[in-house]
Amino acid sequence: MLSLQTFDAGPHTMTSQYERDYARALSDPEGFWADAAERIHWHKRWDTVIDASNPPFYRWFAGGQVNTCYNALDRHVEAGRGDQTAIIYDSPVTETKTRISYAELRDRVALCAGALADQGVAAGDRVLVYMPMVPEAVVSMLACARLGAIHSVVFGGFAAKELATRIDDAKPKAMIAGSCGIEPGRLVEYKPLLDDAIDIATHKPDRCIIFQRPQCEASLVDGRDVTWTDAMAVAKPHDCVPVDATDPLYILYTSGTTGVPKGVVRDNGGHMVALSYSMPAIYDVQPGDVYWSASDVGWVVGHSYIVYAPLLHGCTTVLYEGKPVGTPDAGAFWRVISEYNVKVLFTAPTAFRAIRRDDPKAELLSKYDMSSFKALFLAGERLDPDTLEWAQEHLKVPVIDHWWQTETGWPICADCMGLDLMPVKPGSSTVPVPGYNLQVLDDAGHEVERGKIGPLAIKLPMPPACLPTLWNNNEGYVSSYLSEFPGYYQSGDAGYIDEDGYVFVMTRTDDIINVAGHRLSTGGMEEVLAHHPDVAECAVIGVKDQLKGELPLGMLVLQAGVNRPPEEIAGEVVQMVRDKIGPVAAFKIAIVVDRLPKTRSGKILRGTMKKIADGDEYRMPATIDDPAILDEITDGLRTVGYPAS
Ligand code: COA
Ligand code: AMP
Repeated sequence: MLSLQTFDAGPHTMTSQYERDYARALSDPEGFWADAAERIHWHKRWDTVIDASNPPFYRWFAGGQVNTCYNALDRHVEAGRGDQTAIIYDSPVTETKTRISYAELRDRVALCAGALADQGVAAGDRVLVYMPMVPEAVVSMLACARLGAIHSVVFGGFAAKELATRIDDAKPKAMIAGSCGIEPGRLVEYKPLLDDAIDIATHKPDRCIIFQRPQCEASLVDGRDVTWTDAMAVAKPHDCVPVDATDPLYILYTSGTTGVPKGVVRDNGGHMVALSYSMPAIYDVQPGDVYWSASDVGWVVGHSYIVYAPLLHGCTTVLYEGKPVGTPDAGAFWRVISEYNVKVLFTAPTAFRAIRRDDPKAELLSKYDMSSFKALFLAGERLDPDTLEWAQEHLKVPVIDHWWQTETGWPICADCMGLDLMPVKPGSSTVPVPGYNLQVLDDAGHEVERGKIGPLAIKLPMPPACLPTLWNNNEGYVSSYLSEFPGYYQSGDAGYIDEDGYVFVMTRTDDIINVAGHRLSTGGMEEVLAHHPDVAECAVIGVKDQLKGELPLGMLVLQAGVNRPPEEIAGEVVQMVRDKIGPVAAFKIAIVVDRLPKTRSGKILRGTMKKIADGDEYRMPATIDDPAILDEITDGLRTVGYPAS
């Protein structure tokens, strides 16, 4: 069995491609990544592979000039791939299926870039994209890349206030929005949310390009809004603008430990190099293969593995506007795989739990020819062994759990299928990907022995594609990630590495929870609850959920003298979270309690409440102020069905 000790840079016998890549990426990062960079077209080659002159800030391929859109589209068209399908758009919610070739996509993107330029957008400007899963979302992202503008895509399930926070931080010159998203059974009108967000925000974008969907026509604001069709009608195709490899390609906001999201910055050069390396090495796909990431362009998985990596690698990518179940049934994924000869599917475990719930014996599978399908990759949350076994049993292909974050942009740990497939250990996302020097640390920042749990940290410099900083916030980058363990990036996850070198990611060390593969901050929800006039104190915990992995649950202590029915107040705070954060928070349970359990120093014991709600054993915290409160909490949780049987 493999041992990570053998991956140290020192001389020893190498046996596998994985070991060779892993060792070289650590001992000779410059050589390793310079070789990987040959997959990319450089308008100007780099001066240094890694600029380490200003630690803890590291810059990959400094001095180089590139264009990400050129590499994703034009390069392939010039090399003869123009007729190959670049995007398969499959939308059961609108009953649409279309294919867009590389040549056609390049032309559409060039036109959209021209339209953005007409609105005054130039290299370095930010463009906020608020779009459903339609090809125009991908076109918008690539058009920004073509111009050297920086896109910031916001997921459609967020509310106006969240959008406003991002507008104020990114200060976009222009916005591109769809008129609506389509959720099973309901239309989500984006335009009123967009208008509200611009009203709330201090910064006002000059222009909004509105993509009108036939399902819902949005009204326009005179002088500010222009329809997608009108903007394209007068636009001229725009060429690719070379930018510095270290220039930002995009900003993607993700939940931090407070209600204020963090603007993760992705550069152009390092991002392309790492993603291009990952496609054959991790996913074992080749140019021309059909690759499907069933995620959303609003999440990092969508950025990296719906849009950029498959196109950079010359694959066909599937853009699926639907759900794993209910559109129309739990055979939807199998239909897409068989209809388009998908080789690799990447999604979140929650999608498979939903399919299993509706079709426990996977009977719908027998309707489809799955012969093209070679591997299932899962990420976004811990892969529970039951779901792993179910998928293995029915799909009969490798099922690979891999661990990564918005911040890294590509997997930290995986079973690298294109290097050497290793035996699966349920609960483990296998081994660190070449380039990541991953360690489990103790409080003093020393590496712990094998099997011991602790914070998972990556020794600096991190490999290409990982965030070089937060948008306009170098200090926040250092304080959030680098200050706790100098010389390391602390991931916010804790876990252990076993004697064979397998990594087990167990839990977050902060207040982040994972709801249906979506990353959310309980602190952000507490901020909303605290604004209710009747609420004196509150806590939000993530409780176990069979489908979504975790669900947020709110506990409210009311102001003295409030006599209204508790259910009424609970209903109001549920609505507040939906209005302020968005439906994606899935915040549906709140209970009123007399007091919250605290330590003698006043710290709320969220971890203990979570254990009670999950039905896990817990030890009475030595520092608890009043142990009797835990009985009251247990009674309160029972009223809403926790612990679930
Ligand atoms: N725009 C607007 N609203 C959205 C939205 C979007 N893009 N995406 C989700 N929502 C809404 C949903 O309609 C739902 O609203 P509701 O409370 O009115 O029902 C709410 O946000 C929660 O959505 P979700 O968590 O997705 O739950 P669901 O019950 O609709 O679906 C799953 C459950 C498991 C089928 C679904 O979460 C899923 O497919 N997950 C895969 C996750 C994934 O791809 N993660 C990306 C990382 S790989
Ligand atoms: P996001 O930034 O939205 O991609 O969420 C990243 C977080 O999701 C990580 O920090 C983990 O907490 C969790 N996560 C992602 N993939 C995995 C995995 N394979 N196993 C366990 N947790 C995961």
